[in-house]
Amino acid sequence: MNVALPMFRETTGAVMVERASARLVRISLTDRCDMACVYCRPAERSAYLPAEERLTVAEWESVLRGLRAEGVRRVRITGGEPLLHRDVVEVVRRVAALDMDDLAMTTNASRLEALAAPLRAAGLQRLTVSIDSLDPARFASITRGGELPAVLAGLDAALAQGFEEVKTNTVVLRGINDDELPALVRWAWSLGVTPRFIEVMGVGEGGNIWRERLVSRDEMIATLGGLVVAGDGARDDDRGPARYLRAADGSGRRVGFITGSTDTYCAGCDRLRVTSDGTVRPCLATEEGVELTEEGKAGVPGAVAATLREAWEMKPDASWKGCTEVTARAVSMLKTGG
Ligand code: GTP
Ligand code: 5AD
Repeated sequence: MNVALPMFRETTGAVMVERASARLVRISLTDRCDMACVYCRPAERSAYLPAEERLTVAEWESVLRGLRAEGVRRVRITGGEPLLHRDVVEVVRRVAALDMDDLAMTTNASRLEALAAPLRAAGLQRLTVSIDSLDPARFASITRGGELPAVLAGLDAALAQGFEEVKTNTVVLRGINDDELPALVRWAWSLGVTPRFIEVMGVGEGGNIWRERLVSRDEMIATLGGLVVAGDGARDDDRGPARYLRAADGSGRRVGFITGSTDTYCAGCDRLRVTSDGTVRPCLATEEGVELTEEGKAGVPGAVAATLREAWEMKPDASWKGCTEVTARAVSMLKTGG
């Protein structure tokens, strides 16, 4: 069954900044993942990147140092699942030593229980945990085998570490988890966590299901039935594309919405991505990118700059419709990192 898609809108909400150069980089530390979410990747994975093609810890450090020299001040570590990388804590330590303004991670939290303390000690500032259901059987079905108790234990461990901010990401799927929104909000708020709901996008495996499963932000808000004050919401400065609505109870708590299918935030996009094989990618919605040079990976001063500029120039213009473009479907979310 295809649902009627809401009209695609140009960017709403906060006034977009003129984008001059990359300020944020998302690094996909590994293309491996221990879950196989139905909107992200096929059940049967194809081969992972061979070890010799992956950036080493020293190369990540060199590349990030080079990016910092070119003006990047915010780093988000993604995957695949970043906590599957053997040296994730060391990578965090080295990036933290570069004195970025922001160092965050998006994780499925399956391994967070043991890693929360070392990650915090290494300098990780903020965490986002993906969690699509509070029902263990449903969670296992959406993630094709994920174990909810491990994720909840991971989240608890993170909360005990006093990260500067902890948020959740829930990809909302019609007929699968769209009845859980109020419960997820109450649960997250009870933990002091900010819940965020994501419209399923036609990226990667999402290309097969998004038309059938998409729940628009407006529908989500209606489902929340008065928990939040409805409206366009506002973006946080120097953060990603989420727009936040405030709790109706005046508590100051918030719910975030990421509308990659009914809206676009391309106009203000100040981000680049670096994949685990060392490709700088200008946009989530295309497979295009520029490979880092050996000099860039080796830390030769100034060597990352040319790659960065080339990738930045490949950034689509503001008429680009992001993850609704046909190119999005060919993107591997595992390699790109959401
Ligand atoms: P904050 O800085 O904390 O707001 O982080 P974030 O929201 O950028 O990070 P997160 O990894 O949690 O991203 C949440 C979701 O936003 C991703 O899973 C994507 O669905 C979406 N997203 C992130 N970056 C982009 C982008 O460049 N384009 C599009 N279309 N969607 C994006
Ligand atoms: N649509 C929307 N969000 C997606 N993610 C992965 N695939 C998709 C998709 N097709 C999200 C995950 C995770 C983040 C890294 O990317 O839920 O929170």
